[in-house]
Amino acid sequence: MTESIHILLIEDEAGNRESLTRALAKVGYRVSAFEDARSALEFLRRNQDILLIITDLMMPGMDGFAVLEGARAADPEVGVLMITGQGSVDTAVEAMKRGADDFLAKPVDLFELRKRTDTIIQKKLLTRRVTDLETRLSEKFGQLIGRSKAMEALFRQLQLVAPTRSSVLIIGESGTGKELVANALHEHSPRKDARFLPINCAAIPAEILESELFGHEKGSFTGAVGRKLGKFELADKGTLFLDEIGELPLEMQVKLLRVLEQREFMRVGGSESIKVDIRLVAATNCDLETAVEKGRFRSDLYYRLKVVTLRIPSLRERPEDIPLLANHFLLLFCRDNDRELMRFSSDAMRIIVNARWEGNVRELRNLVESLVVLTPGIEIGVADLPEELRIATKVGAGHSAGTLSAPLPNADSLRDDFSTFRRIGPGRVADGTGSTPTMDEIERNAILAALEKTGGNRTQAAEMLGIGLRTLQRKLKEYRDAGVVGDEQ
Ligand SMILES: Nc1ncnc2c1ncn2[C@@H]1O[C@H](COP(=O)(O)OP(=O)(O)OP(=O)(O)O)[C@@H](O)[C@H]1O
Ligand SMILES: [Mg+2]
Repeated sequence: MTESIHILLIEDEAGNRESLTRALAKVGYRVSAFEDARSALEFLRRNQDILLIITDLMMPGMDGFAVLEGARAADPEVGVLMITGQGSVDTAVEAMKRGADDFLAKPVDLFELRKRTDTIIQKKLLTRRVTDLETRLSEKFGQLIGRSKAMEALFRQLQLVAPTRSSVLIIGESGTGKELVANALHEHSPRKDARFLPINCAAIPAEILESELFGHEKGSFTGAVGRKLGKFELADKGTLFLDEIGELPLEMQVKLLRVLEQREFMRVGGSESIKVDIRLVAATNCDLETAVEKGRFRSDLYYRLKVVTLRIPSLRERPEDIPLLANHFLLLFCRDNDRELMRFSSDAMRIIVNARWEGNVRELRNLVESLVVLTPGIEIGVADLPEELRIATKVGAGHSAGTLSAPLPNADSLRDDFSTFRRIGPGRVADGTGSTPTMDEIERNAILAALEKTGGNRTQAAEMLGIGLRTLQRKLKEYRDAGVVGDEQ
């Protein structure tokens, strides 16, 4: 029997308590039922595996709102489904306002109860998985994700550079994560409690850029109705991020250089010299060296900026990161769209890994978002991918066939999926349509896929799935007995 989800039920009325418990247990949930809130909360503090609390609102002593508060104090992630009295719309609204995940009115419809329960549980499991994924520190720096050699090297550099006050130049194609890197530099520096202020040099017209950066005094030009502080002053003690620095007009380059050298500047129309303590991080997706050669960028500023240069590799240069990123975005968007956990078929993932990704991580993120919204089933197959992507990969516009020993489906993600499904336990992930596979089917598919990948080697397959060999053998025997797989397995 697979491990099942643990639910805490609080209902003072014995008849209701029993019927709700029975209804949930029938679909495989483990229910701990309590008559009073106080002992239920005590139980919650001692049992960390509880994902959802279903509580009556009106109870003698501690009511449902107090339960909600106490539960969130003990475990901020725990789900709460509130059962409200008949027709009390106001209290239902109040419950949602105070952070309940959902509510049900009495008399409770048991079908509805199971449906709402399934939905909340799905969401909590996804959140938990995202958190698990995020705490795997070796694959992460700030919000940056990556396990390729190139990204690991970048994380090491970031670790060294972040705490210093050196100016940093970040170079990378569009969508590679330059802003995330700039942000990570700030967050891992002693300046993290002060501001991180980004400014896009390409997006601001040259005439206003100076006043944006340095501020202006009242009346310094038409329209300057009052004194305005610029980004340099606002970012004092913090980090100023000059994005697309290659687009900075030449006369501003002179002024920027002066600030970097003297650490002071004047507001437009002002006469007072202002001292600031800022850390400058700049980014560019153009080749600054060529810009220098062509006279579009001052060489003295260039040398001053590039003391510490961080280069972010394009996604094409690190295909190993693609499955990790794709699965990460899949989890995020499933969670944000209240969808149950989806997955990529291995063929679809192979195409994704081999695509060109001219728009780098941003393009991949956008694709995954649209797939989550547009794909009806829980598996994203080749047919669900946009045609450009399928064709581009087929004609070899990406890596030529065979250059990439596609690491798919990768062992980690298989194992993760598997353990999530084991936690969910038996029964259907109900979405009301009845068309989704049962957990047993998903589990079976994961086992068969692992066997296929390891050429039938059971020891390796069990290892890949993170389960014991005996469990695997027992499962296979069940499948054979049920006639769902042939004797050769
Ligand atoms: N390594 C990564 N891990 C997770 N998310 C990433 C990573 N790299 C980029 N992203 C995401 O991709 C998107 C683009 O990143 P970002 O805006 O930092 O790119 P950029 O290099 O500044 O692009 P541009 O040159 O177009 O401004 C963002 O949504 C960001 O969160
Ligand atoms: Mg950017």
